Amino acid sequence: MSGFAAVDVIRAKRDGGVLSDAQIDWVVDAYTRGAVADEQMSALAMAILLNGMTGPEIARWTAAMIASGERLDLSSVARPTVDKHSTGGVGDKITLPLTPLVAACGAAVPQLSGRGLGHTGGTLDKLESIPGWRAALSNEEFTAQLRDIGAVICAAGSGLAPADRKLYALRDVTGTVEAIPLIASSIMSKKIAEGTGALVLDVKVGFGAFMKSVDDARELARTMVELGGAHGVKTVALLTDMSTPLGRAIGNGVEVTESVEVLAGGGPADVVELTLALAREMLDAAGLSAADPAAALRDGRAMDVWRSMIRAQGGDPDAPMPEANEVEVVRADSDGYVATVDAYAIGVAAWRLGAGRARKEDPVSVPAGVLLHKRPGDPVRAGESLYELRADRAELLPAALAEAARAVTVDVRPPDPRPLVLDRVE
Ligand code: URA
Repeated sequence: MSGFAAVDVIRAKRDGGVLSDAQIDWVVDAYTRGAVADEQMSALAMAILLNGMTGPEIARWTAAMIASGERLDLSSVARPTVDKHSTGGVGDKITLPLTPLVAACGAAVPQLSGRGLGHTGGTLDKLESIPGWRAALSNEEFTAQLRDIGAVICAAGSGLAPADRKLYALRDVTGTVEAIPLIASSIMSKKIAEGTGALVLDVKVGFGAFMKSVDDARELARTMVELGGAHGVKTVALLTDMSTPLGRAIGNGVEVTESVEVLAGGGPADVVELTLALAREMLDAAGLSAADPAAALRDGRAMDVWRSMIRAQGGDPDAPMPEANEVEVVRADSDGYVATVDAYAIGVAAWRLGAGRARKEDPVSVPAGVLLHKRPGDPVRAGESLYELRADRAELLPAALAEAARAVTVDVRPPDPRPLVLDRVE
C-alpha cells in the first residue's frame, strides 16, 4: 500500500477536505500496524468529529476496518443468520431473552458482544454472573454452537476488526466517541466481519444514550442501514427511547434474573414489548415472518433454547444469584406519580455501586445494582418504596444515593406517556 504522511491526512480533514480511498486505506492499515501513532489518530478522529465524512468516505473507512482482520464464514450454518446490535443503554438486557427467542423461531443468532464501560452495562458482564459461564469461544466452537443450538452470545475474538478495537479505546479517552461516522463504521465493521446475513439495529435515543436527539439517532441509523446494504447485509433499525432505564433491574445478576422472568412468560412490560418488536424485525429480515415469537415465549420454547445456550458455554442455568451484602431502600416523601427516572443518572448510580467499571481491567460486582420499584407514570404514596440500591460494601452507597435521588422525581400529575419505539429506518 503506497505511503502518505499522516500529518497530510490530518491536515486534509482538519481543513474540511474529503479523504481519498487510498488515504483512508493507508491510514487505517498504518494505525493498526502501529506506523501511525496514537496522537496522530487522535487528531484525525477529532477532525472527523468536527468536520464529518461523506457517505463514500464512511463506506471506505468501514471497508478498511473490516479488511484489518478476519471475516467469519457462517456458510456451514443451515438456518438463516440474523443478529441484533444496540447502541447501548441502561438496563438494556434485551440481548439475553432475544437471542434464544429468535433461535427458537428458526433463525441462527450469532451475538458477538462486549463488556460495559462507564454508565452502560455490557452483555458479557451480565452473563458472567451465571456460575461457570464462559465468554471466550474459538471460531470453531462459535460456529458449532450456532449450528447445533442456533444461539450464541460470546466475546468478539481479537481477530475481528482489530482496527476498531484500537481506535475505540483511543476514542474513549479523547472525547471522540460521539462522531456519527466513527460510531457507524465501528459498529458495522464488527457486524459485517462477524458474517451475519441480516442485522437489526436498536438505536437508543435520550438521556441514557450517545444520541440525545431523534434527528441525530435517525442520521446514525440511516448511515448504518446504508453501510449494511452496501455489504450485502440486510439491515433495519428501530429508534427506541432511552430516557428511562429498560425494565426494573439495572446491574449484572439482577438483569439476568429479569431476563429469565421474561423467558418464563413474565417480566416488565417494556422489556417484553421491545424484545418482541426486535424479534419480529429479526425474523422478517431473516425471511421467517410467519414465526410467532410471542407464542415461543409463552410455550417455553425460548426458555429451552436459553438453557441449552447457557449450558453449552459451561453455565448452570439453575444456579441462584448471590445476594447483596448491603441493601438500601429509598421511599417517597409525598403522594403523587413518578415523573422521571433519568436513565443516565441511574446508570451512574449502578456503576458507583460496583456494577460497572471505570477502567477496562476493573472487576464488576454480580449482585450490585438498582431495582426500580416504581416506573414513570406509576402512582406512589408517601412512605412507599421507590427503588433499592444493592452493593457489596456500605461505603459505596452514599455516592450512588446522591445520583439516584437526582434521577427519580415525583410530581402531582402523571407524565405524558412516551412510546418505546420512536421510529423505524430501512
Ligand atoms: N459501540 C461500538 O461498538 N462502537 C462505537 O463507536 C459506539 C458504540
